[in-house]
Amino acid sequence: MKIFVVKFGGNAISGKEDMMRLSKEVAELVKKGLKIVLVHGGGPEISAEMEKRGLQPEKVAGLRITDEKVLEVVEEVLGKMNKYVTENLAESDVAAIGMPGYLCTLCKKKEPFTVNDNGKEVTVDLGLVGEVVDVNPDTLLDLLKSKVTPVIYPIGEDDKGNRLNVNADTMAAGIAAGIECEELITITDVPGILLDVKDPNSKVDKLTLDEVDVLISKGVISGGMIPKVEACRSALNAGVKAVRMVNGKDPRSILTDIMKNVPHGTVITK
Ligand SMILES: Nc1ncnc2c1ncn2[C@@H]1O[C@H](COP(=O)(O)OP(=O)(O)O)[C@@H](O)[C@H]1O
Ligand SMILES: [Mg+2]
Repeated sequence: MKIFVVKFGGNAISGKEDMMRLSKEVAELVKKGLKIVLVHGGGPEISAEMEKRGLQPEKVAGLRITDEKVLEVVEEVLGKMNKYVTENLAESDVAAIGMPGYLCTLCKKKEPFTVNDNGKEVTVDLGLVGEVVDVNPDTLLDLLKSKVTPVIYPIGEDDKGNRLNVNADTMAAGIAAGIECEELITITDVPGILLDVKDPNSKVDKLTLDEVDVLISKGVISGGMIPKVEACRSALNAGVKAVRMVNGKDPRSILTDIMKNVPHGTVITK
């Protein structure tokens, strides 16, 4: 079974047109016999809903600070989006089933960590934010064998059943690491890793993890790109053969990627 874990966020796939394009690509791949596990985030939608409810979205190193109130919004918004995604896939004749990450993973709260804030080391506790520690691949493999495409939204649970907000890239990498998968593809709103975020032509085709570290320390890789490259790192270290970032606004982005006919996006290797 050739499995691909494909992650996308609300910036990359925004609106009906993007969603239909992605659904059609998935449909084509599934018809060819490839197995796809979809993981989606919902950053912009969550921030918008938080603001509507008078909550201030706050992120550190690309991760959302999450308390009980924020978690409630996150779960609600992601749950709704999950339904929307599976409905759209169904319209393209893809048998899809939506589920939260806690049905196939075990997570734990992310430990407080230090960040450099204007030259000062500060410790940050993100609150109810989780990391994947284990995956139960059986449910996913059974679904894939039955030609059903799992669509996962990144709400995790710890071993006591406490819900945790997990960054979608982190969830996708955790799942990719836990099932034997060919490639982790993250669809985002930039063409790949850029040497200058404002210049789409500054994309790097290939990077090693050491080169990634240099770019992080120089501040070239920042914000939401940090959890993305860290997700790539953990997937590669867990034995996933290839990880790649592509632009969701690029027509046929995942098809091009999986067929590998043309250089595409940024590929990260060990
Ligand atoms: N070096 C970089 N190259 C590309 N994007 C970067 C870089 N550094 C920071 N970013 C930011 O990371 C963003 C992608 O992460 P994020 O906003 O979390 O999107 P997603 O919804 O795809 O996870 C880009 O839109 C860009 O603003
Ligand atoms: Mg992100």
